[in-house]
Order: sequence, then structure tokens, then C-alpha cells
Amino acid sequence: MPNTAELMAQKACEVMQYAYAPYSKYRVGACVQAEDGTMFVGCNVENISYGLTICAERSAITSLISAGKKKIKAIAIVGSGSELCTPCGACRQIIREFAAQDAPIYLCDPLTKKVVETTNIKNLLPLSFGPEHLENK
Ligand code: THU
Repeated sequence: MPNTAELMAQKACEVMQYAYAPYSKYRVGACVQAEDGTMFVGCNVENISYGLTICAERSAITSLISAGKKKIKAIAIVGSGSELCTPCGACRQIIREFAAQDAPIYLCDPLTKKVVETTNIKNLLPLSFGPEHLENK
């Protein structure tokens, strides 16, 4: 039986096959887990008007929120390149909105389908601006 991190890595790798990436040819898959354990997946969806591209992480997070979930418990990300795929700057800020500072972010290898590195949004987006800045004004 795979543990949660392994299962999320597998799901991220699985959804990567559906990436629509005819321009960059770089496929990305993401799996986000809600507080209640439910998992949602997403892939990158590119567009001929390049700036309209939706990243895998934001695609998965949008599904989580659309299902009525409020918080991200963990995230797994995989990209089709030989370097580990880490979330882009825009996705980091979106993750920051919904994940606790120490929520695990699993960076995965597309060949082994395993977690290679575990980080969190505190590491990826230090000194970040988040919702509590407005709540505590
Ligand atoms: N991409 C993602 O989906 N997530 C990331 O974190 C990095 C970049 C996508 C966007 C684009 O379709 C392709 O990867 C190349 O930038």
C-alpha cells in the first residue's frame, strides 16, 4: 500500500499524460490534497496566446476550491524534464493563499514516479504576503 506522498506522486504522474503542451512540450502534473484527505489533480493547459497558459498546480487548486474545500494539506508536482519541477512564481503565490506555511510540497521524478524532495511554501516563498496581512491590519 503506497503512503499518501507516494500516492500523490503517482496521481501527479498519471495526470501529466493529459497535459496540453504543444508549444513548450513540457508536461506538468499536480495533485493537491484537501484537509479531509480528498485529492484533486491538474495538468498544464497551454494556449496559442501563450500568456493564457494555465499551470498544473493552479488547475488542481481550482478543482479543490470548486469542490468546496478550503485548505490544501499537501501538494505533489511533477514535470517532464530532467530537472525537478518546482512551482513557478505565480503558482507559489496561489499556493500561499490556501496552504499552511509548512504543508508538504512533494517534488517528484517522472521516471520513478517517486517523491525526490519535500519542501513547503515557507521555503519556496519567503517573507510572503498572505491573507492575514489584511486580516490583521
Ligand atoms: N508549468 C506548470 O504547469 N507549472 C509550473 O510550476 C511550471 C511551469 C507549465 C507552464 C507551461 O505550460 C510549461 O510548464 C512551460 O513553462
